[in-house]
Amino acid sequence: MPKEFFKELSDHKTPPTYKYFDGEAWKVSLSGKTSDIISPIDGKVLGKVQQVTFVEIDRAIERAKKAQEEWARVPMIKRTKPLHLAADWIREHEKFLTRLLIQEIGKTYEEAKDEILRSADMIDHFCHEALHLAGEELSGDAFPGYDQTKMAIVERVPLGVVVAISPFNYPVNLSVSKIVPALLTGNTCVFKPPTYGSISAVHLTEIFRIAGVPDGVLVTITGEGSTIGDYLVTHKEIAMVTYTGSSEVGRSIATKIGMIPLLFECGGNNPALVLPDTDLDATSTEIVKGAFSYSGQRCTAIKYVLGLKPTIQELVPLVIKKTKTMMRIGNPKDERNNFGPVITENAAHEIEKRILEAKAHGAKIVLGGKRDGLFVEPTILTDVKPTMEIVQRETFGPVVSFLEVKSIDEALSIINASEYGLQASIFTKDEGTGIRLAQKIGVGTVQVNSKPQRGPDHFPFLGVKGSGIGVQGIRYSLEAMTRFRSIVLNSPK
Ligand code: G3H
Repeated sequence: MPKEFFKELSDHKTPPTYKYFDGEAWKVSLSGKTSDIISPIDGKVLGKVQQVTFVEIDRAIERAKKAQEEWARVPMIKRTKPLHLAADWIREHEKFLTRLLIQEIGKTYEEAKDEILRSADMIDHFCHEALHLAGEELSGDAFPGYDQTKMAIVERVPLGVVVAISPFNYPVNLSVSKIVPALLTGNTCVFKPPTYGSISAVHLTEIFRIAGVPDGVLVTITGEGSTIGDYLVTHKEIAMVTYTGSSEVGRSIATKIGMIPLLFECGGNNPALVLPDTDLDATSTEIVKGAFSYSGQRCTAIKYVLGLKPTIQELVPLVIKKTKTMMRIGNPKDERNNFGPVITENAAHEIEKRILEAKAHGAKIVLGGKRDGLFVEPTILTDVKPTMEIVQRETFGPVVSFLEVKSIDEALSIINASEYGLQASIFTKDEGTGIRLAQKIGVGTVQVNSKPQRGPDHFPFLGVKGSGIGVQGIRYSLEAMTRFRSIVLNSPK
């Protein structure tokens, strides 16, 4: 029973106050302060989470540091055991965790369930891949002037204490994608979940603990990023920061942090380029899914669509029609709905403001544009110009803009002028043209004939420019969380 399984986490009052995990036990913070987690669905306080103090962060990091050496000595095959078990526990509690995610961040049933099951699959996949992680051996004789008496044994070794900061839109899955590769490669992890998403994240932590992750190997601290974020990421004992969130915060962390490895996935603002030969029916379906799933709150959402005038004029009515038929707006607790609220009142207000600004600058709202509390309608804008803020900056909500261009080259210039570079989509019947154009676009991944997306999770996932640093994806994340140690043997000649 989930209630029994998760009994340590909170005081069980209504609403419950959750504890933080100091690496050994669930604790109430000495700060005496908590943050309310308000459900975006009905505005009710779902629970309270601890706001930890700097002293508690120091102790947590100290504990993680102490545990790291011993954890790194545990054979890889044994490190996978508690993690596989955690994957099984996640599957076992899938219904409970799905409900929690719906309540806490307003995901719809399918989205929440997918996040939970994808997380379990991801853990298993990480564990399998970790078994094949290897260094290499190099002989000196490949370089002029050297021979076989010189050789390098290049090992992959852990970094130390990894700080993992995950975002509200995938508080379970994007936490797993950071914690698990860190642990498998012999690091310990200080995990800071998003404030909205903390409740799901402390449940995830408890699953890892019960599955047998040893003391000090995973520490989960909760609190407001604006209060503890800088202290945490600039702590002298940490060896790496892996972060997913806005480009703004990513840039700020990167400038403060100093010379340690970073693995960041930041804002997206992804374009879709639609060529004249495209199957517009299939393309419009992808655009609707790309723009409006999880109310546009995905870094991989489609934010603007470019095409020649005849293409856009034919495409827009199709996208409007499909949005009306495909998106069922309403309370995400009702499984029939597939479009819910955005995360907070502030977020809803900001999205509305951006839509109205675009309108004031000449854009036309051809669908949606209104909001009712935290529910922002799926919104389609036309007559949008590349200089408008709605194209220049990522709007983390259900808004997609359509831009008419005079040539495909003009579209490429607009895309490449962006300060973001996560993903882009190209829609065309000619895959060869798709590949040739993809090679001209400065983003981490180009999708030919699909909406942008992170998965499948063993593919490399990366952003360039303001969209990130480093490469994630099963093997890539494991590698990123190790460093090389090179031992050079110099035998007598
Ligand atoms: O929001 C950022 C996520 O990495 C997007 O993941 O493409 O699976 O929705 P997704």
